Amino acid sequence: MDTLETERLILRGWKADDLDDFYEYSSDMRVGPPAGWKPHSDKEESVVILANFIRNDCVWAIEYKENGKVIGSISLDKDAARRDVDCRELGYALSADYWGMGLMTEAAKAVIDYGFETVGLRCISAAHFPGNDASRRVLEKCGFRKEGMLAYSYRLYNGMVLSTVQYILMSEHWQRMKYGEAEPRMSEKLALIVDEKLWIMTNLANAAALIYDEMVNVNWAGFYLWRDGLLRLGPFCGKPACTTIEMGKGVCGTAAERGETIVVDDVHLFPGHIACDSASLSETVVPMRVDGKLIGVLDIDSPVRRRFKPEDKAELEKCAAIMESIWPRD
Ligand code: SME
Repeated sequence: MDTLETERLILRGWKADDLDDFYEYSSDMRVGPPAGWKPHSDKEESVVILANFIRNDCVWAIEYKENGKVIGSISLDKDAARRDVDCRELGYALSADYWGMGLMTEAAKAVIDYGFETVGLRCISAAHFPGNDASRRVLEKCGFRKEGMLAYSYRLYNGMVLSTVQYILMSEHWQRMKYGEAEPRMSEKLALIVDEKLWIMTNLANAAALIYDEMVNVNWAGFYLWRDGLLRLGPFCGKPACTTIEMGKGVCGTAAERGETIVVDDVHLFPGHIACDSASLSETVVPMRVDGKLIGVLDIDSPVRRRFKPEDKAELEKCAAIMESIWPRD
């Protein structure tokens, strides 16, 4: 199988003498169970699985360049839910000693790139168990989009059945992220789907859905509307959010008060940031005005720090301007 190299890692085929390293992390209680597999209880078990890995040409060993150790595995395997299409499922495991260093994201990006550029895949799927935040973060950082929860879908080695959270990454999304292109024509698409003749809530709901769907790495997109002296939760996509925000409070209230767009690269560094979804790490808020009066704000959250580039800000401001232009006048 092809060897892939990243800054800190070599991804290569497995070898029989990887056994000790393989057993070391595979016998660790912290590694297998969160991914649904039983920790190896003896080296004999590891020998059998290692032999499978060696035969199989879709599982790479992750070698850490600094010490030459094999510290995990990563695979692009058949996706049982997507037969006869150009799709493979991404899977991975990493020694707990190397967690929190961004290594799996580094490996996953190389494998994804290989999948799209060399294998010619159209999409890559992945899944984690609910609550496996480390795994979720890897997928989000790679640009995967959450499809939803597949209930009662995976029987564990101990007989328990769990639900899985399913993700997908399409090749066009990856290309767009990789080449750093601005979201193409999102505001043009918005201009096409809104209609002045419709109820404003209908237009706002579709605008939120479009932005959420179009932008890579966004976990909340929607509107807070200015009514009776408060910013009140309007149409949105994402997790349930706080219902009212006072003028001057949070990123939303601050943007509304200042009358200018605020891009927050790291929400933990923004004094008074209101956390609705703990996954949110960066945020952009665009205030909206009609005839000089505040009507609300457009709010976008991302689970990735520094997600919003100047071109994203410009595009979101265009979207807000489109909503202003179709706002009902009293
Ligand atoms: N973070 C926002 C609150 C709204 S949620 O992001 C949906 C703020 O600080 O104003």
